[in-house]
Amino acid sequence: MAEYDKTALIRAAFAAREKAYAPYSHFKVGAALLAQNGQVFTGCNIESAAYTPTNCAERTALFKAVSEGITEFSAIAVVGSREGEVNTLVTAPCGVCRQALFEFGGPDLIVLMAKSETDYIETTLGQLLPYGFGPKNLAE
Ligand code: THU
Repeated sequence: MAEYDKTALIRAAFAAREKAYAPYSHFKVGAALLAQNGQVFTGCNIESAAYTPTNCAERTALFKAVSEGITEFSAIAVVGSREGEVNTLVTAPCGVCRQALFEFGGPDLIVLMAKSETDYIETTLGQLLPYGFGPKNLAE
């Protein structure tokens, strides 16, 4: 992935974070998922008064893409912090999102966990979810 693409993807994640619906945790997250065809799908966290239905930003982006027929991805950028604050920690995808992404991205999906456009950790889904269980495990 080119340096420019990373910056653009992180910027898209920050823009998506602006749309976060997080009146309970006040922790706003944005994600930008880059498809192999170059399309970018963004998502934010969407909370619920019943708490359990809450959807993370990463899965919002993933489900938007898959529901549009796009299932092959190369990278995802994730940003998160409390409303009105800048985080000292990067936001790493939760366990459920790692599993959901693994279904389509596999271990090679690049994950950018960013504090700013220039300050980020770059890793892979395989690092975040070693020995991930995926479609191949169910293949004959
Ligand atoms: N959240 C995400 O959207 N993505 C993550 O990677 C971590 C957590 C959301 C869920 C909830 O709305 C809020 O952040 C606090 O957990």
